[in-house]
Amino acid sequence: LQPSKPLSREVEPEEESDEGKKKVTILFGTQTGTAEGFAKTLAAEAKARYGKAIFKVVDLDDYAADDEEYAKKMKKEALALFFLATYGDGEPTDNAARFYKWFTEETERGDWLANLHFGVFGLGNKQYEHFNKVAKVVDKILADQGGKRLLAVGLGDDDRCIEDEFAAWKELLWPQLDKLLRDEYAASGVSTPYTAAIPEYRVVFINPQDFGHLDKSWSLSNGCAVHDAQHPYRANVAVRRELHTPASERSCIHLEFDIAGTGLMYETGDHVGVFPENCVDIVDEALRLLGYPSDTFFSIHADKDDGTPLSSESLAPPFPSPCTLRTALTRYADLLNSPKKSCLLALAKHASDPVEAERLRFLASPAGKVEYSQWIIASQRSLLEVMAEFPSAKPPLGVFFAAIAPRLQPRYYSISSSPRISSTRIHVTCAVVYEKAPTGRIHRGVCSTWMKHSIPLEENEGCSCAPIFVRQSNFKLPVNPSVPIVMIGPGTGLAPFRGFLQERLALKMAETHLGQAILFFGCRNRNMDFIYEDELKFFVEAGILTELIVAFSREGPTKEYVQHKMIEKASEIWNIISQGGYIYVCGDAKGMARDVHRVLHTIIQKKGSLDSSKTESMLKSLQTEGRYLRDVW
Ligand code: 2AM
Repeated sequence: LQPSKPLSREVEPEEESDEGKKKVTILFGTQTGTAEGFAKTLAAEAKARYGKAIFKVVDLDDYAADDEEYAKKMKKEALALFFLATYGDGEPTDNAARFYKWFTEETERGDWLANLHFGVFGLGNKQYEHFNKVAKVVDKILADQGGKRLLAVGLGDDDRCIEDEFAAWKELLWPQLDKLLRDEYAASGVSTPYTAAIPEYRVVFINPQDFGHLDKSWSLSNGCAVHDAQHPYRANVAVRRELHTPASERSCIHLEFDIAGTGLMYETGDHVGVFPENCVDIVDEALRLLGYPSDTFFSIHADKDDGTPLSSESLAPPFPSPCTLRTALTRYADLLNSPKKSCLLALAKHASDPVEAERLRFLASPAGKVEYSQWIIASQRSLLEVMAEFPSAKPPLGVFFAAIAPRLQPRYYSISSSPRISSTRIHVTCAVVYEKAPTGRIHRGVCSTWMKHSIPLEENEGCSCAPIFVRQSNFKLPVNPSVPIVMIGPGTGLAPFRGFLQERLALKMAETHLGQAILFFGCRNRNMDFIYEDELKFFVEAGILTELIVAFSREGPTKEYVQHKMIEKASEIWNIISQGGYIYVCGDAKGMARDVHRVLHTIIQKKGSLDSSKTESMLKSLQTEGRYLRDVW
């Protein structure tokens, strides 16, 4: 099960009446639910193993209300396990951000955590420069401050099979826990391997005529004073425009969400979270594979019909209902990611053909590890493709939504407007994901495809809408507008800089003095994907942008990238840095941001006549001062 984020808010602290028993706290920092799922799996297995100990699973945000409480609670812990995901430029997840800030800035020295035994498992992706940074940093600080490390930090790699890495880490953890929780052994639980029960929601089928009105599944999303991931606002699409020319075989969408009169606020440089919908043909395929008619009307519950919880975790249903099955599949089911091993086991349980059930179990077993990583992970085989290969597997809806299809997650975009110019609209600049997977399947990105096909209000009153919310970021212009800046943003990395330039336009209109601003933009071809060309030229003419430098990668015989142009402008970049200016990078983290970092290194080393390690520490201090900022994904 990859539990939905809303469930996590419901994790109840256990009663404090178990004095004398050993207590283990399992803390998680999760974005898409994987870290949370691992934390809960570990707790369930550990409970079965150590009958008498108490295991608390806690969302890091819910652990403490403020820094003081974090310190007080951590000091009291004797045994704590951390599951920590790392995102983008080595950042913590939203729900771990407050903890991470406090923990990394904590100045209390000495052995204040001397009572603590701890273990850390990280969730990251090796393709990124700061692989598992959050887990590594927390692990180190815990040890530096006196905590006793039970085992080496686990470095889960999302590019491989992270479930296997979690399983391997657990095998190293058990002997350590055995030592500490010796007295807490369950009489029989030690030798029998624990198998997790397959979770299931209670589903009630309803005759729509009996219910009176249809589909109340979106009525809960409005009417809130605060709009966050748990309480998004359903915003209309006001404008939708293609940014590439017809000569381009790719697509990039400019979208404007209408937020007039909603109370939804944003600042230049913030991100918008968008809950997308699956497209009709994907949902049709899911309906066919599940074997239900699309107008199946049902309600879904996490409690029994007498109101007691189905599991110890939560009473919250996974999504608002009653609704039709088509609606539920469209809005809440992640159908295109590869299924986790636990999903395969749930499918196996409901496969009527024993050969299919056996093969599904094999794929999820340690013996099927290589096959799973090739046939599922490397082939990017989607959940629907897997279900199509095992047609006898027809899970009931309660199992499908609890254990097979994870909750569809919001997608984040750097907002490409400024509220100073566009106070009632949030602009998004989105590259449409359309690529061939190794199985030959054409993979269409869920949110970008939804945006591409959305209907704007300017065309039709029955326009498209999506639940959205704003996430704050640190990617902000200097407080003093006369401080010079360098912006580097190829492709859709341009998005937040369009917002920056709008903000500078507003400042200029208010007769504020603006410092120098240089923008490095990169695209394939002037006649295909030079997005916002006219606007950028206007910003130059209006004196908002001092210099626009564009690298076209597919016009000449050799590739020209933003970093090549940066070398040509090394003196100007160095001057801006020397004058206390800011450097901003936005876009792809795996290739571009890494290469740009190297080039910045070269420029600083050369112009500042520094050695390599002095250069790196200068870049580090620029980063800690907030003068070298990256918004990368
Ligand atoms: P390419 O697709 O021709 O390789 C926006 O996507 C622009 O960024 C494109 O022109 C793309 O070029 C370019 N790009 C690709 N990889 C890059 C990298 N590592 N550094 C900088 N730009 C890159």
